[in-house]
Amino acid sequence: MCGIVGYIGTQKAAPILLDGLKKLEYRGYDSAGVAVQTSDGVIDIRKEMGRLRILAEKLDGGQVLEGRCGIGHTRWATHGKPDSLNAHPHTNAEQSIVAVHNGIIENYSELKKNLAARGYEFYSETDTEVAIKLVDYYYRGHKDPIKALSEFALRVRGSFALAVLFRDYPDEIYAVRKDSPMIVGIAGGESYLASDVPAILSYTRSVYYVDNLQLCRLGKGTVEFFNLDGERVEKSPVEITWDMKAAEKGGYEHFMLKEMHEQPAVIRDTVNSALQDDNSVDLSETGISEEELKKVRRIIAVGCGSAYHVGVAAQYVIEELAHVPVRVELASEYRYRTPLFQEGDLVIVISQSGETADSLAALRLAKNHGAKTFAVVNVVGSAIAREADFVFYTKAGPEISVATTKAYSAQLAAVYLIALKLAAVRGTVSAERNAELASALRSLPQKVQMLLDEKEEIKRFAFEAMNKKDVFFIGRGIDYAVSIEGSLKLKEISYVHSEAYAAGELKHGTISLIEDGTLVVGLLTQSGVIEKTVSNMEETRTRGAVLAAFTAENNRKLPAGSDWTFRIPETDELFAASLAVVPLQLFAYYLSVLRGNDVDNPRHLAKSVTVE
Ligand code: G6P
Repeated sequence: MCGIVGYIGTQKAAPILLDGLKKLEYRGYDSAGVAVQTSDGVIDIRKEMGRLRILAEKLDGGQVLEGRCGIGHTRWATHGKPDSLNAHPHTNAEQSIVAVHNGIIENYSELKKNLAARGYEFYSETDTEVAIKLVDYYYRGHKDPIKALSEFALRVRGSFALAVLFRDYPDEIYAVRKDSPMIVGIAGGESYLASDVPAILSYTRSVYYVDNLQLCRLGKGTVEFFNLDGERVEKSPVEITWDMKAAEKGGYEHFMLKEMHEQPAVIRDTVNSALQDDNSVDLSETGISEEELKKVRRIIAVGCGSAYHVGVAAQYVIEELAHVPVRVELASEYRYRTPLFQEGDLVIVISQSGETADSLAALRLAKNHGAKTFAVVNVVGSAIAREADFVFYTKAGPEISVATTKAYSAQLAAVYLIALKLAAVRGTVSAERNAELASALRSLPQKVQMLLDEKEEIKRFAFEAMNKKDVFFIGRGIDYAVSIEGSLKLKEISYVHSEAYAAGELKHGTISLIEDGTLVVGLLTQSGVIEKTVSNMEETRTRGAVLAAFTAENNRKLPAGSDWTFRIPETDELFAASLAVVPLQLFAYYLSVLRGNDVDNPRHLAKSVTVE
C-alpha cells in the first residue's frame, strides 16, 4: 500500500526520495509525489499520476530539485480517485506545511466540516489534506511542530504515519504515527525516514522503529523521539540482517518467479529454525513455554488473504496431530464479532508483513480479552510481532512480489512445526509417528524443487488454458485449503475469474455455472477423499467442463477423461499443501505472463494492506 520516504542531509534529496520510493513500488500504488525544501524554507511539490518512472523522468531523476530535505510518497487511493490532485504530498493554503500520509483518518468528514466552518478550503478529496489542515490549525496557535502533531494525533481517529515539512523549520522533518509503520535510519550526516525497511536499506542497516503514538524530529544525521506529552523518549536502533540481494531480481524475469524458486530454501530455513536433530521441535525462541502450550484448549487462527488460507490448512493439521480444536477466522470479520473467549485459548495471527490492519486489530481484540496471542510473522519488528505475546518468525526474507508465494510456504512450514510441538506436549503422537513427520518435513524442500524443475509442463498447460474465462478449483480437506490459495493466485495476477470450492459444496449451487469448456482443476492428494473429489470432477465433466487433475504420485483413482494430469511427489498427506500449491503458483504465474500482465504489481492490489 502507500509508501513514505523522507531524507535530510548533505545531498540533493529528490534522487534519494525517488530511489527509496522505487524500492517500495512492490507495495502497490497508483500515483507518486515528492516535496523538497531548500534551506530558506521554500517547499516545491511535484506529483504525477501513474508509475513512479513518469515522475522520475519529469524530474530528471530528481536532479532538477535543489533542496537537501524532502519527503516522498507512493499513493494507493482510498479517499478520492487516483489522480495527480489527490496524490501526495498535500499542503496547507500557504504551502508552509506539507505532508505525506499513510493510513486512513476515519473522522475526516467531521473534521473537514469543523475546519470549513473556521474558513479552511479544500482542493482535494483526500483525508490527508484534512489532516494537514488540522495540523495547520493547531500549529497557528503556538508554532510548535511537536505540539501541533501531538494535538493532531489526539484529535483524529484511524491510522496514520504522517511525515511533515514546516517552512519555519527548513532543516527538519517531523513525523508521527499510529497503527501504520514508520522507521528512521541515521548514517553519518544523513537521516532517512520510511514506511518500510527496503526503502533505506542501501543507506543504512541500523533502524529505529517509531512506536505507536510517538513523534520524531529528524535533522541532518540526528533524530529525537517524543511522546504525546512532548517528552523526550530514548530509543535504540535495531540491526537489519537481510541481504540486500534478497530485494533484487537476481536474473529472474519477475520477483514472483524468483520467490517461487526460493521456496525450497525458505522451507528448509524455517523448518531448521525449530526442528532439532532428535526430531523434537523447539519453540523457545518464540517465547512460549511447554507449560503454556500444555494449557492450550482451543486455537483461533486469524489472517487475511493467503495468510488466512494457511490457517485453513493449519486447522486440518493441528486437529489431526494435536487434537486441539481450531477455528479459522478472517481477521476483517473476526475483529467486529462479539468475541467469546475461554480459558486456554491461543490466538495465532498469521501475517507476512506483520502490518495488515485487520490482523493487527484482531490481535489487539484477543489481547484485550485476555487471550494469549502467538504471531507467525515474516517481517522482524513489525507491529504484529511487537504486540503479540509470542512470535514465530518465518524465514522467508523480504518478499517483493505482491502475490505471496515463498512467505505462504514458510507460514505453512511454521504451522506444521507448531502442530508437531503441540502434539508432543499433549502426547498425541507416538515417537515413531513423530519421526516420520519430521522426516517428511525435512524432505519437503527437495520435493518442492522437483516440482519447480517441472515448470515447463505447467507453462504448456497455461498456454492451452490461456483463453479460459472461468476456472474452478475443487478439493476436500487439505486439498480444499490448497484450492482456495490456487484460485486466489490466479485471480490476483492473471485476472481470470476463478472460484474455489470444497468439492462437496459444488452441487449446492456452483455447478450451475459450469458450461462447455469451463476449466475445473481438481486437487487429489488426500487419499481418504480422493474418490469423492474424482466423482465431483466427473459430474462437472458431464456438464461440459474440461478437467485438470493435480494428484499424488501414486494415486490411480483419476477422473475418467481428464484432459490434463499432473503428478505431485508423495509426502505425508498432512503436508501435501506445501507441494500441491507449487504447480498452482506456476500456473497463475505463466498465465499472467502470457496475458501480458504486470505480474509483480497486479492492478488494484497492495502487498501490505495497512487500511481496513
Ligand atoms: C495482501 C497481499 C496478500 C496477503 C494479504 C495478507 O492482500 O496481497 O498476498 O496474503 O495481504 O497479508 P499479510 O502481510 O498479513 O500476510
